[in-house]
Formats: sequence, C-alpha cells, structure tokens
Amino acid sequence: MKRLAILASGSGSNAEKIMEYFKDSQKATISLVASNKADAFVLERARKFGVPTFTFTRKEMDAGLLLNKLQEEKIDWVILAGFLLKIPEDLIRAFPDHMVNIHPALLPKYGGKGMYGHHVHEAVKAAGDTETGITIHLVNEHYDEGKIIFQAATSLTEEDTPDTIAQKVHALEHRYFPEVIDSLMEK
Ligand code: GAR
Repeated sequence: MKRLAILASGSGSNAEKIMEYFKDSQKATISLVASNKADAFVLERARKFGVPTFTFTRKEMDAGLLLNKLQEEKIDWVILAGFLLKIPEDLIRAFPDHMVNIHPALLPKYGGKGMYGHHVHEAVKAAGDTETGITIHLVNEHYDEGKIIFQAATSLTEEDTPDTIAQKVHALEHRYFPEVIDSLMEK
C-alpha cells in the first residue's frame, strides 16, 4: 500500500476528491494532509475523512520540519493540490519522481512565479485565449517545469470570466486528478 501526503494551502476541493477516490483503495492511502495555513478549509475536509493533519509555517518548512514529518510518516508520494509555497530543494530531492503538482492551465503557458489560482485565470481571460486546461506534472527544482504526465483542455468563449474559467478548470481537475494519481501508483 502506497502512502500519500497531500499538501494544500486553501479550500482543498481537489484534496477532497482525492480522499474520496482513495478511501477504499487497495493501492494507496492518504496518510496525511499538510498545510501552511492553520485555518485552511482543506484541514476540515481532511478531518471529515479521518485523515491526520499537520500544519507548519514557511520558516518551519524551510528548516526541514515538513520533510521530517513526511519521512516519519513513511510517505511514498507527495501530492501538491493547490499548495502555494515554493518547496525547498531538499524536500524535492527527497522524493525524486514522486512529487506531483496540478497546475490550472496548459503549461508551458501561464506557469512560473506568481501564476497560481485566480491570477492564472485572469491572465487567460486578458489574453483572449479560446481554450485553457489543466496540467499534472512531476515537480523538480524549477517551478512548473517538471515532466508533464497529463493535460486536458476545455474551450472558452468570449462570455467566460475569470470565475467561469476557474469553474471549468476545477471541473477538469476534479474529474482527472485522482485517476492520474491512481495510474502512478504502480511505480
Ligand atoms: C487548483 O485550481 C490548482 O490547480 C491551483 O490551485 C487550485 C486549488 O483549488 N494550483 C495552483 O495554482 C498551483 N500553481 P482547491 O483548493 O479547491 O483544490
């Protein structure tokens, strides 16, 4: 059985879909939900599923506290589901090809520093793009540049706003992210 940790900074709707998907799985179990925000709604969602939670500050993460916790919990895979801090390099190196991120756009477009959540959807709207989507990728030392595992697109119309774009992207994320994680569990 693979042990997964989800890192999330906010609402955690993706985390919830993942916990739901794996709750009876024979392959993987969600062993921990960790957040840099003590009041993040994702922690409540985790409690509902009986998944242990862990919170930490940026400073503590940079000092190795999160890495220690993940090692203590014998975590095999780290899943970033709306985690908004830059991950320290020693943490990335501790999970080679075993750290996965979801990005709310079709990378390499709209990636990099400052491109998260609503900022991405606002940039897509401002550019007048006719499609957007999701990218699920492995995490390496360079922001949003790890190996792409999966992408899915959705079309946009002129009527779409950053809010409706966010809804369309979330729908894709919820539909695909748990299954894509599942497909990685053979490794
Ligand atoms: C998701 O759309 C995810 O792609 C995005 O944050 C949102 C979290 O939603 N991640 C990034 O922007 C990372 N660069 P959720 O808390 O409802 O799962």
